[in-house]
Amino acid sequence: MFQHIKAFGGDPIFRIGAAYQADPRDVKVNLTVGLYYDEQGRLPVLDVARRAEQAWAEKNLPRGYLPMEGLATYREQVQKLIFGADNSALAQGRIATIQTLGGTGALKVGGDFLHLAYPNSEMWISDPAWDNHHSIFQGAGIPTHSYRYYDARTQGVDFAGLMADIRALPEHSIVLLHPCCHNPTGADLTDEQWLEIIDVLRDQRLIAFMDMAYQGFGRSLDEDAFAIRAMVEAGLTFFVASSFSKNFSYYAERCGSLSVVCQSADEAQRVLGQLQAVVRRIYSNPPSHGGQAIASVLADPELFAEWQAEVECMRDRIATMRRLAHERLQEIAPNYDSSYFVKQRGMFCYTGLNLAQLEALRRDHAVYIIDSGRISMPGLNQDNLEYFVQALAQVVTDDSLA
Ligand code: LMR
Repeated sequence: MFQHIKAFGGDPIFRIGAAYQADPRDVKVNLTVGLYYDEQGRLPVLDVARRAEQAWAEKNLPRGYLPMEGLATYREQVQKLIFGADNSALAQGRIATIQTLGGTGALKVGGDFLHLAYPNSEMWISDPAWDNHHSIFQGAGIPTHSYRYYDARTQGVDFAGLMADIRALPEHSIVLLHPCCHNPTGADLTDEQWLEIIDVLRDQRLIAFMDMAYQGFGRSLDEDAFAIRAMVEAGLTFFVASSFSKNFSYYAERCGSLSVVCQSADEAQRVLGQLQAVVRRIYSNPPSHGGQAIASVLADPELFAEWQAEVECMRDRIATMRRLAHERLQEIAPNYDSSYFVKQRGMFCYTGLNLAQLEALRRDHAVYIIDSGRISMPGLNQDNLEYFVQALAQVVTDDSLA
């Protein structure tokens, strides 16, 4: 029956993560999957999450189905977090928000809905892309293409290229954008650049799909949502996918959201209904456990402040690792330009290392980085930093690998 089925080549991110896990060497460094590790190399269990879970467990409530759109309190709190509590579109009831299975689930539901609403629209995704973006939207039946995003010379955004590419798009094209902490490059747009992009999106009637998986890891919870809030102000109709995997350390709980900012409350109600229909066709309704805990943390000012402080610690630790890596590399490999560590922001660093260098790092040093050369920064800590920079310095100064 399945003779014709080809073997799965493995996911480009998880495959290298699995190779790290399987490596028997004692000293090894995992810079693969975007997971936040603390200074001790552990995935944190946030104290606020633990307390909220305990309080919930003690209530011992029955476990009926959640509605297709998810928990009402979660959706309400998430809207405030993303759009700001005093956002006018919220007051006007113009935003349709559902609880989703992580950020990836939000992209899938959004993709399915968009394909129904605009069956002829195609999607443009940054080059380079998070490896899964093309697959998710193609899986929803939407053809995908790339727009220019990264300039290897400056190790930053190719803004002129990006603008030229999106200006050339036909009406109702969908543009996937990262409001903060661009994955994989860590090269973010400035607020001024966002305002220019928003003008093009509005004037050309393009559909923005904002994927925010790292809110709080760039500048702050509020500042990282700058572009989203500016889009609301500019009167755009657009999509936002968000995730609590990283900033709540809730990867396995699959807690995310999808919002569609509409032009009226009536439109938002109809869009919400169609999102419910899409969800019903895929998984019917989301699980409750993680969403309950998040909703109770976000709704309680004291717990919220504690969580905000936790996110700030994570952000600061990543920034410190970036600075230390760059400083140390300047000392031990002065001819190597490691300024990308400090120019880029958030979870990821885009190194530009080639495959031979990446393979040498894995083979000779047990330092694991995915094939795009993207480093997940929280894999570094004070204990393994020196080992890592020495390994990197060796590889980048070895001419046979260049
Ligand atoms: C990553 O980019 O490593 C993370 O977002 C995890 C994933 O699902 O790929």
